[in-house]
Amino acid sequence: MAASQTYTVTVLLDVNETQDVDDRAESRSYIVADRASSQAVIIDAVLENIERDVRILKELGLTLLFAVETHVHADHITAASLLKDRTGAQIVYGGGAAGAVTGADVFLSDGHELKFGHSSLTALATPGHTDGCTSYVLPTAVFTGDALFIRGNGRTDLQGGSAATLFDSVRHKLFALPDETIVYPGHDYQGRVSSTIGEEKRFNERLNLSIDKDTFIEVMNRRKQPRPAKIDIAVPANLRAGRLER
Ligand SMILES: [Fe+2]
Repeated sequence: MAASQTYTVTVLLDVNETQDVDDRAESRSYIVADRASSQAVIIDAVLENIERDVRILKELGLTLLFAVETHVHADHITAASLLKDRTGAQIVYGGGAAGAVTGADVFLSDGHELKFGHSSLTALATPGHTDGCTSYVLPTAVFTGDALFIRGNGRTDLQGGSAATLFDSVRHKLFALPDETIVYPGHDYQGRVSSTIGEEKRFNERLNLSIDKDTFIEVMNRRKQPRPAKIDIAVPANLRAGRLER
């Protein structure tokens, strides 16, 4: 960690025991804490993991200001609304989700900052996996949601997704960040924790710099993936910021 860095990042894996192992989405959540003020944000919190996450926040003496979502997830229900009830945190979605999501307190548009203590996250609109995806940038790291994975990328065949749009988001926006920027993805299915923008430019299977846009579109449009098991439950709930129907 650089001496000047004002924040710490805690990586949280989706290993909750209430879910079938086969049914796990391998989602990643992140707590980013401002060191001086102990104010924190959590990114892409998962409903089933809320007790663990609240315990960590408490142990670390953190005040949760914001529950931040990279997009409307299809594979799990967000813990955002429950975290709001439990901690008073505000719910933040990217600006691309405005108009679709109810129950959010803030829609953070492209280039806008979310401040917590002396630290801040900057929204970077990265549509393509869904039409409303947003990445969040720290000075040394980026939380890419399902736009960019380690050596991969999110599917583009659901929720207003578009391979052409995703290509532009990754190549023109995420790859414009410094090479040493740490990439924290929304999922990883092979137990990896982080990558860097420079690594992905070289080694990403479908989006490395040697691959052109037409090839990427063709590859993505040829892919056949099963529908996410929980999509019919997760998407409606996440359009209400994870608020369950009563
Ligand atoms: Fe997703």
